[in-house]
Amino acid sequence: MDKAAAIKRIKELRASINYHNKRYYQLDDPEISDVEYDRLMKELVEMEGRFPEIDVSESPTQRVGAAPLAKFATVSHLTPMLSLANAFSEQDISDFDERIKRFLGADEKITFVVEPKLDGTAVNLIYENGAFTVGATRGDGTVGEDVTQNLRTIDSIPLAMKKTKDSPLPERIEIRGEVYIETEPFQKLNKRRLKEGEQPFANPRNAAAGSLRQLDSRITTRRPLEIFCYGIGMVSGKTFKRHWDVLQTLRHWGFRVNPHVKQARDIHECIAYYHHIDKIREELPYEIDGVVIKVDEIEIQERLGAVSRSPRWAIACKFAATQEKTVIEDIRVHVGRTGVLTPVAVMKPVKVAGVTVSRATLHNMDEIEKKDIRIGDTVIIQRAGDVIPEVVKVVESKRSGKEKKFVMPATCPECGSHVVRLEGESAHRCIGLVCPAQIKEHITHFASRGGMDIEGLGDKLVAQLVDTELIRDPADIYFLKKENLLNLERMAERSATNLLAAIEQSKTPPLEKFLYALGIRHVGEHMARVLARSFKTLEVLMTATEDDLLAIRDIGPEVASSITGFFGEQSNRKVIEKFRKAGVKPVEKSHPKDARLAGKSFVFTGTLGRLTRNEAKEIVESLGASATESVTKTTDYVVAGESPGSKIEKARASGIKIIDEKEFLKLTGRK
Ligand code: IVH
Repeated sequence: MDKAAAIKRIKELRASINYHNKRYYQLDDPEISDVEYDRLMKELVEMEGRFPEIDVSESPTQRVGAAPLAKFATVSHLTPMLSLANAFSEQDISDFDERIKRFLGADEKITFVVEPKLDGTAVNLIYENGAFTVGATRGDGTVGEDVTQNLRTIDSIPLAMKKTKDSPLPERIEIRGEVYIETEPFQKLNKRRLKEGEQPFANPRNAAAGSLRQLDSRITTRRPLEIFCYGIGMVSGKTFKRHWDVLQTLRHWGFRVNPHVKQARDIHECIAYYHHIDKIREELPYEIDGVVIKVDEIEIQERLGAVSRSPRWAIACKFAATQEKTVIEDIRVHVGRTGVLTPVAVMKPVKVAGVTVSRATLHNMDEIEKKDIRIGDTVIIQRAGDVIPEVVKVVESKRSGKEKKFVMPATCPECGSHVVRLEGESAHRCIGLVCPAQIKEHITHFASRGGMDIEGLGDKLVAQLVDTELIRDPADIYFLKKENLLNLERMAERSATNLLAAIEQSKTPPLEKFLYALGIRHVGEHMARVLARSFKTLEVLMTATEDDLLAIRDIGPEVASSITGFFGEQSNRKVIEKFRKAGVKPVEKSHPKDARLAGKSFVFTGTLGRLTRNEAKEIVESLGASATESVTKTTDYVVAGESPGSKIEKARASGIKIIDEKEFLKLTGRK
């Protein structure tokens, strides 16, 4: 291919990739598959490699994400990134003006610039001779994280500054700006996340900050990030008279500057503009949480300086959170992935700060009781940046007496299993193994390494199996057939065979692994071990009463009631029966090879050198012996570490064997 043809093809490819980027990121409506997209990108990378003389600075290849990082490097800012003091009222803004005048002494004429305050995440961009070299987060203001790779994926950050006659390029400059996500793309992003089973972001600010701090910049590329630049830090060989000139020059250099920035002759004009922006904020395509007022004259800014990490010459004027009145028509219950039941208020739709809302989370029963929220109540709701609004309070004067108190359902609206509220928790939970809301989570946990350890059964495959209704509860795993698996997308003969073999192999798990895999609340790996050792078989454990459980050291009332609740649930017993039918037989590990220690009782006192107290206990328990706190008639050994306590005396008096750590290690075969 000659150069002319190459230029033509490169142009085509760039235009096509830019078009598909827009379809994907901005319109959320891709026309081609990821594979096709990757093919275009690959061809462009190759072509640009073959013709290095063709300028790549504006090419989409310069913005693709790079390989994931293990962690971010740190970058010291050349000048600190300060934060702003806040004003919440007209009075606060006037006080700011007064403070400045007092500080300057003379009756000096000062003017201001007012800018919308974007609600995103601050960044520092370093350009050297016009080229973008390093970009960082604010961090603690002095040192931030190097997120250059991620910032390069943002289209509105120029990779090369534009040279103009009036604004030559400085050798080195720090550009300051706010990275954010517009409201609509944010909502689309959240919808996509929900569809893919991921947690939605609470607000655009979190989404922007989270996207920017991705170690894998290929993920950042897929996030609709934007930037507005609002200032500079260090700059070599150039001075500005006014902040306004800085903003205009940034524009000339090719940076995005908010179109609503405005010069103001005095503080009254600032206040008027603050109200104006508050009025139009709903029409803006992005969220703002206030305006920033800055002294325009740079020389005066310098004289004013900073106090406790905020400049005296600028202030953030926050808007009041927007509140609206509406009526709660119903309170429904949402069952989350982990079984938590969240009451959600269904409200008469109302527009709050530009977004129509009809739902608000009421969090939990405590919250409902604290605010005394009832169905039919007129309430004040508020959005403060977050898309999910909250109920601030009930308008009691609007009560007619017909309002209905909400009661948490006794059974799960998704699966009919019992709903319990465990001691010490504010959440109500569904305890059903069969619950469709929790099934993916249940099965992924069940198959995980700490549980049944079924290799190849990760979250993606679990999602496929559940979505195609091949499994509805964890026991269904053992009824999977090869022909079912082969019908799944991307499932080859070999992986199906391997998976079935792994499932088969998991049929005789140690009891403790099986118990852990069931995902009973409060039964982690340690508790599962305690239960397995104490009850030996699943059948015995299933008939244990709360008292039986409480008789075991390590088991408290929360755990006991969680376990009896779980095994008392009819739908769970059915699943366990199904396991049995499938041939799943948990076995209690045949314990102590070292029978000498079975049934022996140990007490530890003082500080051990090589082992922690917990490790020592684990060793003891793994050999079928037990560790207790106090010396009694049944104690067999007291292990004395550094500066032992009174337990030693007691042991001596009762003639109990006292050993040191070295002897303990020998006795337990650790040395
Ligand atoms: S000026 C010394 N201007 O608000 C001046 N900040 O606490 C420092 N922000 O971290 C900032 N829009 O992330 C400035 N037009 C604007 C801004 C803005 C948003 C953020 C920025 C900063 C925080 C202030």
